Amino acid sequence: MTTRSPENTATNRRVLSGMRPTGRLHLGHYHGVLKNWVRLQKGYECFYFVADWHALTTHYDAPQTMGEHVWEMVIDWLAAGVDPEQATLFIQSRIPEHAELHLLLSMVTPLGWLERVPSFKDQQRKLRDKDLATYGFLGYPLLQAADILMYRAAHVPVGEDQVPHVELTREIARRFNYFFGRGPNFDMEAQQAIEQMGKKAAKSFVRLKQMFNEKGDRAAHAEAIALIRAQPNINQAQQDLLAGFLEGRGKAILPEPEALLTEAAKMPGLDGQKMSKSYDNIIALRDEPKRVEQSIRVMPTDPARVRITDPGDPDKCPVWQLHLVYSDSETRQWAATGCRAASFGCLECKRPLIEKVLQQQEEIRQRAQPYESNPAKVKEVIHAGCQKARAVAAETMEIVREAVGTAHK
Ligand code: TRP
Ligand code: SF4
Repeated sequence: MTTRSPENTATNRRVLSGMRPTGRLHLGHYHGVLKNWVRLQKGYECFYFVADWHALTTHYDAPQTMGEHVWEMVIDWLAAGVDPEQATLFIQSRIPEHAELHLLLSMVTPLGWLERVPSFKDQQRKLRDKDLATYGFLGYPLLQAADILMYRAAHVPVGEDQVPHVELTREIARRFNYFFGRGPNFDMEAQQAIEQMGKKAAKSFVRLKQMFNEKGDRAAHAEAIALIRAQPNINQAQQDLLAGFLEGRGKAILPEPEALLTEAAKMPGLDGQKMSKSYDNIIALRDEPKRVEQSIRVMPTDPARVRITDPGDPDKCPVWQLHLVYSDSETRQWAATGCRAASFGCLECKRPLIEKVLQQQEEIRQRAQPYESNPAKVKEVIHAGCQKARAVAAETMEIVREAVGTAHK
């Protein structure tokens, strides 16, 4: 287990997440990711971005499709309810600072750390037809670390497969802070900042630091952080320095993020496997209603139900998985009971589902409509988001350049 950086997650409500531009999204994306993004945007300061450079690390042979995929995907985000008034939406490559931070982080990243990220070997095995023995592909989790650290985000909503990347990000942040957050005068500057707080606060700080360092007292840690942050006599940089001093590390130039794993109901594909474009079993977010209805009508069910009089077992039926995602408990009960008692056919069982999915897609289509009919609107959203993101990135890079010695003022 790694140590947490409690300061970051207790007070920082910034969320960052990215998605590769794969083109039109499907209901698997909706239930697995987008619903969660929509929920988070209300309570957090959210940054969501199109990871187009990430797509190039594996799909450098298909640059022609990228442009279209980017805009289709952003429309799907908006259609799903991601609200540009609440969340900042941008495109990675429009913020070239990501590349600079990636480069600077690479200076302190041991090769072994990248080689042992599970996705490195996994993807090479999965995408055998591609040459992924590239510098860019090896460095892709580090690029992700740069994405996250750039916004000094505390929370990173990701799927299970991405957790090791967030973990790597934490390790990189720690190493960076260790090398660059500890100038030659670190201890002296810390003492100076303590004195500057005034006698009473200084005394409290020293006492709380001792309680934390000697006994690992978490409450003392929290109290110390609150104390530092409330001091009018020291500036932000001094506060950061003292936060690092408190924990016996360098100044937290780049705070450590945490993965935010969400329990999402599993969205089955039309064949019962995981929904995925490569299995050709998807319902697209903005699918034709006719096609959606037909797809669900022909979905396989429990193979034991050959005739309408044969009882079935919901646990052996992909349609039941859909009920778990879409139906209320009353409908579920009706379906499960009817299935086991063979009191209706599978088509009957699918009817409320078809209705629910179509109804949801109608809302999605309505939200997409203004953007579909006026693509300039989508570009405006992204343009505004990029400007906001770029301002934050510029701020971070100023601090980072200062720390690594490339500010050259
Ligand atoms: N690597 C992620 C994926 O393939 C996308 C991604 C890139 C991302 N940068 C990120 C996700 C930063 C979260 C945070 O799905
Ligand atoms: Fe599946 Fe419903 Fe048919 Fe049972 S009745 S097998 S749950 S579709």
